[in-house]
Amino acid sequence: MMQQVNLGLIGGGTVGGAVFAALSERADLLTARLGLRLSVVSMAVRDASRPRAFEIPASLLAKDWKAVVHNPNVHVVVELMGGTTTAREAVLAALQHGKPVVTANKALLSAHGEELFAAARANLANLYYEASVAGGIPIIKILRESLVGNRTLALRGIVNGTCNYILTRMKLEGADFADVLADAQRLGFAEADPSLDVDGHDAAHKTGILASLAHGFWVRPEQVHVEGIRHVSRIDIQMAERLGYTIKLLGVVKNMAARAGKGRRSKAGILVAVYPALVRNDHVLASVNHAFNAVAVRGDMVGETLFYGRGAGGNPTASSVLSDLADAALDLRHDSHERVPAFVPHARGKTHVVPMAEAVSRYYVRLTVMDRPGVFARVASVLGAAKIGISSIFQPEGHEGEAVPVILMLHDASHAVLQKAMARIARLPAVRGIPTVLRVEDTEGA
Ligand code: NAP
Ligand code: HSE
Repeated sequence: MMQQVNLGLIGGGTVGGAVFAALSERADLLTARLGLRLSVVSMAVRDASRPRAFEIPASLLAKDWKAVVHNPNVHVVVELMGGTTTAREAVLAALQHGKPVVTANKALLSAHGEELFAAARANLANLYYEASVAGGIPIIKILRESLVGNRTLALRGIVNGTCNYILTRMKLEGADFADVLADAQRLGFAEADPSLDVDGHDAAHKTGILASLAHGFWVRPEQVHVEGIRHVSRIDIQMAERLGYTIKLLGVVKNMAARAGKGRRSKAGILVAVYPALVRNDHVLASVNHAFNAVAVRGDMVGETLFYGRGAGGNPTASSVLSDLADAALDLRHDSHERVPAFVPHARGKTHVVPMAEAVSRYYVRLTVMDRPGVFARVASVLGAAKIGISSIFQPEGHEGEAVPVILMLHDASHAVLQKAMARIARLPAVRGIPTVLRVEDTEGA
């Protein structure tokens, strides 16, 4: 019976460093709980001469990732380097050697998940990825194991800590986007390339993983509609607040069949999307602040569930890596393969991803218009021709000048119809710049 499981880490940055430190600080606790010892026997980093926040004996530092993966003394490979090229090579090589892999790399899973899970199956080596979505929240385990008896009707999540941190500080402090992003980078929340965060791609990687788990077929990255938060300005956050809403970047997996059942025209299928949306202030997601994440899942048996916690940063993410390491070690000890299969193809062919064009929503629109008579009438006439109803329209005071903001709240319209109408409105002579369009999330709907 295996008494010690040897780990090889690739990456010793924010997450890798926290994992290494936690494994040494909590060695006795983990041994007592697992009945075996987790021991780091090798770690690869890019630049071994860089000063680190944790102490590591030089003898543990490997020349490169290959020295970790091919080390016969390494039982489990832990990929915490990020990126999709070298990381793919390293993870594939480990799986092909029959070694289980733990990763926090959602970009890698999004781009190459199908290939990696196939390699894991073919080589009877498990691939664990709890830390890839929502940092310290065990949402992978929840969808894969705890809710296994449920059909997922809807899932909405705040799954990018950096964007939530930026939007929160813009709302609470009136802070500037660029300053807050710099703070998020300093605190270790942001990706090495922070455009992955602010342009919505990181949230899209995570939402695709959650959609695949929830619906049992592989959702390809190009099937996930992605909008980031760069176009959300302080005035939008203030106007949303005045209307009783908070703007959040949401990852959304909606069952469109259920929407059709409510008398709307969408076809059956699921929508998988990331977009900034107005969430009613009395909905729990509106009060998820700073780098916290939350995922609301509605199952057909369990009803509404909500999972909340720190979505980024060294320790919360390391907590999820430790959970995977415990599973990997126990699976190795009990020679267990595919204990709970990662992506069960139960729904292949039964459902599909619906194009964003068909998604129906209410909208918040901010126009910048010349302050002259007749402008509202022209805007209303374009919307009327597109059969889009206006629920309210107002021009906030304090913006006197040639060009002023006008806020419109619109009734349900499909993305395609709304886009066409906005293109026409943007061409009106009195309208300046590109309209800002944000969805109003119907959290009671599917
Ligand atoms: P990070 O701080 O930039 O650390 C990356 C580590 O990988 C560094 O130690 C770096 O070495 C090492 N590395 C880079 N290229 C390498 C190579 N070719 N060979 C060997 N080592 C290499 O990144 P992080 O924030 O820890 O993120 C790591 C992974 O976790 C990413 O996939 C990220 O998306 C994911 N993740 C991060 C968070 C978070 O809050 N930070 C949360 C969840 C998931 P040097 O130290 O020498 O540069
Ligand atoms: N950059 C990511 C975020 C890290 O801000 O959520 C956690 O996955």
